[in-house]
Amino acid sequence: MTQTPRLSGRLFVIGAGSMAEAFIRGLTERGAARGDQISVLNKSRPARLAELAAQYGIHPAAGYDAAQGAEMVILAVKPFDMAEALQAVAPYLHGQPVLSFAAGVTIGWMREQISHRSPVIRTMPNIPVAVQAGATAISFAPDVTGEQRRLALYLLSQLGTVVEIPESLMDAATAFSGSGPGFVSYFLEAMENAAVQLGFTPELARAFLLQTVMGTARTLVEWGLSPEELRRRVTSPNGTTHAGVQVMEAGRLRDVVAEALQAAARRSAEMGAAYVVEGS
Ligand SMILES: NC(=O)c1ccc[n+]([C@@H]2O[C@H](COP(=O)([O-])OP(=O)(O)OC[C@H]3O[C@@H](n4cnc5c(N)ncnc54)[C@H](OP(=O)(O)O)[C@@H]3O)[C@@H](O)[C@H]2O)c1
Repeated sequence: MTQTPRLSGRLFVIGAGSMAEAFIRGLTERGAARGDQISVLNKSRPARLAELAAQYGIHPAAGYDAAQGAEMVILAVKPFDMAEALQAVAPYLHGQPVLSFAAGVTIGWMREQISHRSPVIRTMPNIPVAVQAGATAISFAPDVTGEQRRLALYLLSQLGTVVEIPESLMDAATAFSGSGPGFVSYFLEAMENAAVQLGFTPELARAFLLQTVMGTARTLVEWGLSPEELRRRVTSPNGTTHAGVQVMEAGRLRDVVAEALQAAARRSAEMGAAYVVEGS
């Protein structure tokens, strides 16, 4: 049986924005790492590092040389800042894995930026990582070792569910889990508005909405049902759910959802085109 990896060394996080904070909060709140095992570097805002130090006990890093001796280097900068950050940290890389949160930035492109000095891990988290209920997709370069893989999976599992996928599915993951909270919120917005039209106050509509969505998700998980099975269970012939679902079917909601995900995946591919390396 595989041992659960514990963090024995230090992590170096480049970037101190919302993604970096979600990562640091998840690790420290769950006891997977102590704040003093995490060094953080940003670009121009020392006050932000002081804030993270006060809140989580992290070490503000003085420069990219903090990568030396780190067990893993984490890139939490915007995609357009990746080239600068990777090229600056490259001289201090000597095989320690580099894990990126940057949307659309490919493994092959990152390897080139660091002159193949370290193995690269690409991830696609979604916004609920901020409350440790994220869905993160992860892909590994072939030279990432088994131990490095286990450490990455262990660290990211502190932020929610982690699923390993081939890198070719990253645009699909961006459309599904990355944009998913936006799509689900769109549907919930429509439900909430409809509830108000039926006579609910906005406050009551919101309370019912949130409990209905959380209750549905929890029932699916706890009963181990597929969404289709749960839908069938609550849909009696000629009942109220049946009446509503018929309207959704007539409006081809299923097709609209499929088209929305396809459009998001196409857009993800377009946005990542600058980071595609031929032949990798
Ligand atoms: N937030 C999410 O929920 C989420 C979800 C999926 C993916 N992501 C990915 O996560 C990454 C970070 O997103 P974010 O929302 O955390 O961005 P953010 O809040 O804008 O933070 C970016 C951070 O990067 C720092 N930075 C920029 N260039 C740097 C450099 N060369 N060296 C060191 N630090 C540098 C900035 O420092 P200064 O402030 O000092 O300039 C800032 O602390 C993005 O690539 C995004 O695609 C985020």
